[in-house]
Amino acid sequence: MRVLDIGCGTGLNFPLLRAAAGDGGVVVGVDTSTSMLAVAARRIARARWSNVQILRGDAGALNQVVGSELFDAAVFTYSLSVINDWEWAWDAAVRQLRPGARVVVVDLALPSGWGRMFSPLARLLCFTGGSDPRRAPWTRVRRDATEVSEAVLRCGHVHVATGTVNPARRGGRRERVWKKSPGSPGLSPTCWTSPSAWGCPV
Ligand SMILES: C[S@@+](CC[C@H](N)C(=O)[O-])C[C@H]1O[C@@H](n2cnc3c(N)ncnc32)[C@H](O)[C@@H]1O
Repeated sequence: MRVLDIGCGTGLNFPLLRAAAGDGGVVVGVDTSTSMLAVAARRIARARWSNVQILRGDAGALNQVVGSELFDAAVFTYSLSVINDWEWAWDAAVRQLRPGARVVVVDLALPSGWGRMFSPLARLLCFTGGSDPRRAPWTRVRRDATEVSEAVLRCGHVHVATGTVNPARRGGRRERVWKKSPGSPGLSPTCWTSPSAWGCPV
């Protein structure tokens, strides 16, 4: 099984995703942040995982980061509320999935019910973390997937949605034309799977 971890950050999901991907499976983490990916690379090197790759690039232009190969699952944990063009990122990931693939979104909202008394704190935490709690990205799972299951945790602060990508609904938007301005840092889809590229002892 080939699994995408979009906005993988420091790779906290990798151990579970490796277990889910099974023997012969591959986990591919994508993120724009060099500092996050440096930590992820150290994690991979320490554990000597040969089937976890990290790629630096914009999730909104995913096909330019991971190529044309399709995946069996995509996971977004606390990333869609952070990614600027999150709707592009979602659509790009769905286009990268084979029919019948699984998607998982875990993300933040402001607490509801009696938990609303914690809203100011939640707002502050989201603000400091660069996350927009008004987006409700898990609703994309309802739109583009079937067999949807959802859970709401921590007084409505955390939403989880999972489903199976439905070929009839997938591909909300056309592909984005990816432009790189001359001399701009960063967003080239660079493959940094080699821990030594990060100065990590292997
Ligand atoms: C709150 S962190 C979540 C990290 C990880 N998924 C986790 O659960 O620990 C959000 C991540 O999204 C990444 N990110 C933000 N914009 C992005 C983009 N356009 N493409 C890919 N990753 C992006 C950030 O660099 C950050 O690592």
